[in-house]
Amino acid sequence: MSFRDKLKNADHALTFNDVLLLPGWTNIEPSEADVTSRVTKKIELNVPFISSPMDTVTGSEMAIALARYGGLGVLHRNCGLEEEVEMARSVKRAEALIIRDVVTVRPDNNIDDLVGLMDEYNVHGFPVVNNDGAIAGIVTWRDFRLADRRLKVEDVMTREVITAGENISIEEAKNILHEHRIEKLPIVDDNNMVKGLITMRDITLKGTYPQAVRDDRGRLISAAAISPFDYNRAVALDEYVDILVTDVAHFHNKNCFEATKKIMDNVSAEIIVGNIGTYEAAEDCLTKLDGVAGLRVGIGSGSICSTSVVTRAGSPTFYATTQVADAVKDYGADVSIIADGGIRNPGDIALALAVGASCAMMGNIFAGTSESPGTLVSLEGRYYKEYYGMGSAAARKKRFIQDRYSQPSKTINEGVEGWVPYRGNISDIVAEFVGGLKAAMGYVGAATIPEIGEKSKLALVTERGSNEIKPHDIMQPGPKRGP
Ligand code: XMP
Repeated sequence: MSFRDKLKNADHALTFNDVLLLPGWTNIEPSEADVTSRVTKKIELNVPFISSPMDTVTGSEMAIALARYGGLGVLHRNCGLEEEVEMARSVKRAEALIIRDVVTVRPDNNIDDLVGLMDEYNVHGFPVVNNDGAIAGIVTWRDFRLADRRLKVEDVMTREVITAGENISIEEAKNILHEHRIEKLPIVDDNNMVKGLITMRDITLKGTYPQAVRDDRGRLISAAAISPFDYNRAVALDEYVDILVTDVAHFHNKNCFEATKKIMDNVSAEIIVGNIGTYEAAEDCLTKLDGVAGLRVGIGSGSICSTSVVTRAGSPTFYATTQVADAVKDYGADVSIIADGGIRNPGDIALALAVGASCAMMGNIFAGTSESPGTLVSLEGRYYKEYYGMGSAAARKKRFIQDRYSQPSKTINEGVEGWVPYRGNISDIVAEFVGGLKAAMGYVGAATIPEIGEKSKLALVTERGSNEIKPHDIMQPGPKRGP
């Protein structure tokens, strides 16, 4: 092809700001719209929102909060292996009907040991087991909070411990806890070996978060980011996550494919790969990575990205989604598409869903919430939270200090550092975005997320016109003033 033809054939890499959804005939009210969507073959979210794996966005607090409100948090990897595994473990422990990895103690442990374990695992009661693993009692915070630190567990524990078998239902557990006025119920097998623990707190939390997305053991769904080249981390995380998400700026790369294949062959978690931005990349993922569960799509659209500035390479999320969705359709693949980067409002999500995405990943929006890891800072009377790109100097420096396995594959920074306005709690943001998405679905006439893709029509907006379709010629208040 000549260079002139190359230019003539160049595609329009449209962004969210370049398009609009056209209103269509509707027979549904926005409140009736169903916003559930699949994030992988096996897992359905109650809201199609996912938080980015960035250390200013998703730690365990964000992952727990989002899963409780129906979405998904992908834990960041800008830390050592143990820290990421511990975050994943906390998500799984946050609420479960039966906690499986129970922290137990021995009768000859002393009270100091209990205090240390309590701080380390954030639990307030421990089944006591003998050397052979059989239950000998239970000790809770109330038994030891005022006790002499030199005493042993056997001096303060309750020996007459109420237990239950593994097949207990939630209702039966509730009745036992109520009848005996106890907070914790150890689960034992026929030989009295401790197999789990049910707590009143977890049962209560289940009623509090009806939208929560859970696994088949009642625990919150969890996902974590990995480098395809950190095999050991992927295997270590596998025990505590449902989904592993590759976290690479340009996944369409021979080495990434080969390394990911090895991980896929050795873990039970579902795998989402990315980021990709073209039809050909999607085609290769579908044909060369058998069993891939999802594609993470968009390169260079993120609010903290400088990739396309520095390298002039990229595939904006809206455009990238159209490319990848067509490949998925052409191959008849059962694979979800996660539109990642550049999303500022529910309408952008509706646009991504209109061109084939199943869910949207957001960093900027979630970085501003109380549940993100950063601290709240006050600048000129307004509140902000720190937010930086994972390719920025700040993130790269932290990664290479904390994770001795990470390798700098590039010598330049591809992200920037800054602050985003404080936005309140996750519950507020989820409610605001669900409301906006349902309103968009009302305009399109879509009762479900797949129907947005089937029914919606698009229109292009000119650069001059884009000013008219947002608030204009009016003074507006600035960002939220405080928590
Ligand atoms: P938003 O727009 O929600 O985008 O802030 C978040 C997404 O941006 C990607 N990301 C980066 N891209 N350089 C980049 O080019 C970076 O340093 C960087 N850090 C994050 C990532 O896909 C995230 O989900």
